[in-house]
Amino acid sequence: MCGITARVGTGAAIGELLSGLRNLEYRGYDSAGVATVTPDGINVVKHQGEIDVLCDAIDQSSVRGTTGIGHTRWSTHGPPTDANAHPHTDCLGQVAVVHNGIIDNYAELKDELSAHEFTSDTDTEVIPHLLEEFLSAGYGPEEAFRRTVDQLSGSYAIAAVFEGTDTVFGTRSGSPLVLGRASDAYYLASDVPAFLEYTDEVAYLHDGDVVAMHPDGYTITDTDGNSVDRPFETIDWDPNDAGKGGFDHYMLKEIYEQPAALRQAIRGRADPLEGRVEFEELPEDAFAGIDTVHLVAMGTSYHAALYATTLLSDRGIPAHAFLSGEYGSNPPPVDDSTLVIAVTQSGETADTLSAIRSIQGTGAHTLALTNVVGSTITRECENTVYIRAGPEIGVAATKSFSSQVATLILLSERLSYDTNGGTPRESSDLLSSLAALPDDVQRILDEPTAESVAATYHDADSYFFIGRGIAHPVALEGALKFKEITYDHAEGFSAAELKHGPLALVTANTPVFAVFTGRDDTKTLHNVKEVRARDAPIIAVTADRDTKVDDYADHVLRIPDTHHDVAGILANVQLQLVSYMAADMLSRPIDKPRNLAKSVTVE
Ligand code: M6R
Repeated sequence: MCGITARVGTGAAIGELLSGLRNLEYRGYDSAGVATVTPDGINVVKHQGEIDVLCDAIDQSSVRGTTGIGHTRWSTHGPPTDANAHPHTDCLGQVAVVHNGIIDNYAELKDELSAHEFTSDTDTEVIPHLLEEFLSAGYGPEEAFRRTVDQLSGSYAIAAVFEGTDTVFGTRSGSPLVLGRASDAYYLASDVPAFLEYTDEVAYLHDGDVVAMHPDGYTITDTDGNSVDRPFETIDWDPNDAGKGGFDHYMLKEIYEQPAALRQAIRGRADPLEGRVEFEELPEDAFAGIDTVHLVAMGTSYHAALYATTLLSDRGIPAHAFLSGEYGSNPPPVDDSTLVIAVTQSGETADTLSAIRSIQGTGAHTLALTNVVGSTITRECENTVYIRAGPEIGVAATKSFSSQVATLILLSERLSYDTNGGTPRESSDLLSSLAALPDDVQRILDEPTAESVAATYHDADSYFFIGRGIAHPVALEGALKFKEITYDHAEGFSAAELKHGPLALVTANTPVFAVFTGRDDTKTLHNVKEVRARDAPIIAVTADRDTKVDDYADHVLRIPDTHHDVAGILANVQLQLVSYMAADMLSRPIDKPRNLAKSVTVE
């Protein structure tokens, strides 16, 4: 968690540091700070609270320095206070450091540094004090930085500035760090949106790289100090895509971006006429010899993974979804006939990285399904397929779920083709439905009906979401979205599970969202009747053609008629809208729900 940014170049650094932090706020937002290098020494300003608090505390015109670092925090060690906010400094105030990740051996290092005065509860603070030790021993900033990094274990991305030099030093190990190049400045950041309004040229640093950037250029060296080349790529994200574009919240903007995101996910991959699916990024033999699929993921991505298990099982391919945080600690047996797919929007989720690392060397094949080009997971897996959803800033995942599921539908088709010896399935109906999906989502967005549901029920005690088959992960995702941004209790269940326990909680004040996708609907309708008999209000999410549920539902959220495999994506859009509207009516901080962060880079 946490977002770091750094900038060197011509002109004052402060404005670009603060805008970078605003664009990284999704990574953490309980405190923030900046440090700039001035002729009088290092100037640090940091505050508990969101970036706005920091901005209000700073008179930008009086903050000098063309070189600086910044940080927005999601607490791991110590509460969100001014003292625990980054940057952290040494006893002499000659260095300042920002850090994302966890220093596992900070307690031992702190013991060794007992002569130093520590002013925070953070693990990070050992870094400036170690730097101070090496500077006192006569090393220059770069060597002091390198020797300090050698002492650290854990996961980190670090940027540091030193008094008397306009060079910023940075490194990463297990946490993201990217380098940006503009005509008059260089940038380091946890993620590209931090500097996208200034440059679209990006180089992805590798674990162990040490970068030294100064106004005239930069060097990158590996762990052994050898110079390495990390080529720059041009990112084709529009900077406006990383802004709110007129919407009140990123979450709503991203819900409305789903038709475009889905077009991108499908583009060039599916041929409904031939019933064929191609991924240009996959080698011809990517799935040769595969007979079992494991999917590892967390949160919303786990729900997309669970959805995929039904798709794959339907195609005769044994598939299991695992919470990656469990898989990594206790991996099930795998061999060279197992494909392990890491589903992760950010590509930086520590649990999912750890799950993939846990099966390295077993012969199992690995595939990353991610949104973020160059993210860590892409370097840990043999192959990568991008979901092409564009930047997702809102903490609540929305368009990434739709794009993950659409891409997993295509992958299931390709796996089915490959494992059946190259025999195409009768899949042109499905691929036609997939091609129509962006327009179908647009129809829901053009005539949203979720508002009256949210208005009627937004102050209930508790909310249940039920479904079977692919409607089960949609129910789980509906509940996750609802609880995450409304702070109300919401649970998702398989409709089959309801009368094995949860039904005891159902009252007239427990709205039940029932998801119908065109398969197993009769059984789900029986379950709806059971909760209705307990006076619970029913909100059905169902296809246009389906009128059977109307007699038993208090509200019906319609989705366009489509193929069963695709219907779950449409149902989920309706549930996203209900959650958003309810959270808005409750005046919740929708893009930055309490205690959460967009990218969970610690286990
Ligand atoms: O980046 P990832 O997809 O790996 O993130 C996994 C979860 O942290 C994430 O899906 C989380 O559950 C959502 N932000 C919830 O809306």
